[in-house]
Amino acid sequence: MIGAMRCRSLLGSTSLLVIALVIALVASGCLRAPATEAGLQFGYAIDPNWLADEPRYGEIVSADANIVTPENYMKWERIHPEPDTYDFAVADSIVARASEEGQAVRGHVLVWHRQLPAWLTEREWRRGELIRVLRDHIHTVVGHYRDEFPDVVRHWDVVNEALMPDGSRRSSIWQEVIGDNYVDLAFRFARQADPDAVLFYNDFYDDFGVRFEAVSEGMTVVPGATAGRSDCAEVPKCAATRDLVAGMLARHVPIDGVGFQGHITGTNPADYDHLARWTQDLGVEWAVTELDISLPADQGDDPALLAAQAEAYVSVTEDCLDAPNCDTVVLWSVGDADSWIPSASGGVLGHAALYEEDYTPKAAVLEMLTLLEGAG
Ligand code: G3I
Repeated sequence: MIGAMRCRSLLGSTSLLVIALVIALVASGCLRAPATEAGLQFGYAIDPNWLADEPRYGEIVSADANIVTPENYMKWERIHPEPDTYDFAVADSIVARASEEGQAVRGHVLVWHRQLPAWLTEREWRRGELIRVLRDHIHTVVGHYRDEFPDVVRHWDVVNEALMPDGSRRSSIWQEVIGDNYVDLAFRFARQADPDAVLFYNDFYDDFGVRFEAVSEGMTVVPGATAGRSDCAEVPKCAATRDLVAGMLARHVPIDGVGFQGHITGTNPADYDHLARWTQDLGVEWAVTELDISLPADQGDDPALLAAQAEAYVSVTEDCLDAPNCDTVVLWSVGDADSWIPSASGGVLGHAALYEEDYTPKAAVLEMLTLLEGAG
């Protein structure tokens, strides 16, 4: 791992040779030490196939991250492929690697409307039956990590994206069969399974995420958060989340925090401190759980856009560092090659990560290093 001191001393230089050397050094990562010193859990969503196939990917994860999120392998379709079968092998390999590296793992995700197995979605359920299935899943998965990897998986995204951009409940098997209180039940089951776990509701509020979903799902476009509109009350889904969390707390449902995913565009990030400020009033944490900052696919080498992207990464991270109740920023890919954005956007967007396709660092890596060094 490249020491933060070494990165810092090299960063101060204006010599072209030294700048080139810094770029070569940060290519293998150096954000972990300053992030840790700044009290920030910083890391990436990771995929074991990339760990196996691309050595630079693993080097960067080791050297930059003190926390990782399994991008896909704790989701129902992977970890619970048949009614009576749990398959922990791949997820465990991610958690074991993290544990060896001294990294924490953010559990993702216990209840979502996507990536569900056919055995769950392709039959009719009675309400009581599905509640039992949900309880068994949460008890089994959370219990497994509580017992097999004590203190590694402390944070869980318990419920993901239960709300629509207009603030109404999203249609899902959980919503349709169990009804509104599936959210409360999921959190109660998670708390029963691990009394020490830190339990989050996770969703997206930014304009890109909201519009992207509206366009791809053919829904009405409603306002999301932007730099100019970062008041939670003006963003219907954010206002609905605040009401949801307030209601849960009033009902003594064990919720500890709200994840702001942060799938945003390069030039227009919301003020996340402002957007998330209400969480402090309610006495819960917030975290940036899935940050990536997309650029137009054909403009990934535009220096002005890359500078705006670097500024946006710094701005969102700084909002978390400055907030008394935020200590986590997780990026939703390591490099552009492993990012979900190009395929999900049909090739329109890309270049969303800190590292290029070939895992060379972008301007944003140096900017993040400078921010974290200053915050420690
Ligand atoms: O593994 C199969 C492979 O066997 C198959 O050949 C290939 C063909 O398409 O698909 C592969 O599965 C893909 C999977 O990612 C693993 O790469 C799925 O098609 C693809 O849909 C899936 O996308 C994931 C997406 O969630 C699904 O909704 C993305 O990787 C993942 O980054 C994304 O993550 C979500 C968060 O969990 C929640 N918040 C939003 C975020 C972005 O959508």
